[in-house]
Amino acid sequence: MNPAVRAVVRMSIAKGCVPYAIYEGYEGLVQGGDLIQEKAWEDVRGWLSEGGTLIGTARCASFRERPGRLRAARNLILKGIDALIICGGDGSLTGADIFRSEWKGLLDELVTTGELTQEQVTGHEHLNIVGLVGSIDNDMSSTDATIGAYSSLTRICQAVDFIDATAYSHSRAFVIEVMGRHCGWLALMAGVATGADFVFIPEKPPVDGWEDEMCAIIRKHRTMGKRKTIVIVAEGAIDRNLNPVSASYVKDVLVQKLRLDTRITTLGHVQRGGTACAYDRMLATLQGVEAVQAVLDSTPETPSPMIAITENKITRKPLMEAVKLTQAVATAIKKKDFETAMALRDAEFEE
Ligand code: F6P
Repeated sequence: MNPAVRAVVRMSIAKGCVPYAIYEGYEGLVQGGDLIQEKAWEDVRGWLSEGGTLIGTARCASFRERPGRLRAARNLILKGIDALIICGGDGSLTGADIFRSEWKGLLDELVTTGELTQEQVTGHEHLNIVGLVGSIDNDMSSTDATIGAYSSLTRICQAVDFIDATAYSHSRAFVIEVMGRHCGWLALMAGVATGADFVFIPEKPPVDGWEDEMCAIIRKHRTMGKRKTIVIVAEGAIDRNLNPVSASYVKDVLVQKLRLDTRITTLGHVQRGGTACAYDRMLATLQGVEAVQAVLDSTPETPSPMIAITENKITRKPLMEAVKLTQAVATAIKKKDFETAMALRDAEFEE
């Protein structure tokens, strides 16, 4: 996210705009004051390689309510801000689009209640919103990659490589749980990139009796001379009845059916820290630049865009359509319609 902020700040300045950083996510928008700070070119020096997010992030209950959004609108007007570039997941981006759709009503209310004068709101009739997608989960539809996903995948692969060495030494099995919330991208790609023996993901739950299928595959690998076994479980992995597939259950199966000396490793928040990989630095920079250009191109009629990457090209997609498609996958899984869930995920890559 830091390379994205850096790119937005510097492209804004290059285009003659004045950039502000809003600290602590929507909380900063609602609180205002020192949480909204003008940024100069040199303020974001060195941010390309910084992990996490230097301007902070927070879940904000008050922005979900209209009074909070009213305060946010007031703070923006007082600072003279007329465009917002938001970097987040589908929840943050939906919040931003609601804010934009309410904008005129919020300004009218601020004038009617005397919080602002008509003069202060004149010239601010339109709020520009542009979305950047920041999530390690790579769970947003309409884009091939979200900012952070490849850094997290890199970290997972490094960790699995480290585990590989000790698994090989002791001829052990490891069940490795990775993040991803309701999305299996990190688990699946980590499985491909590390040559895992078996992978569990939410979008394609294993068939009934998967225990025997998994054991048959692992047994075959062992008879071919493999001294280690790696099973990757997405934290959101489920079976066909929507019951979680837990790492401890997978371990029990490996111990009882294959007599493998098995350990569990939950990678946890190491997947969300450390420096960003080269791909993420590049993606965030190109998308940050495109986000500023999208602000400059926007008209009141343009639906809020989301900056995506499609077949290696930076693209603009209608933000709310991407959010709806993302939510459609979750809905299909809840209805146990796994074929539709997979088809929707595949379609994201075929667009
Ligand atoms: O969405 C990113 C993510 O890291 C998920 O993969 C994970 O489920 C969740 O956030 C963890 O959130 P928290 O840090 O609040 O526990």
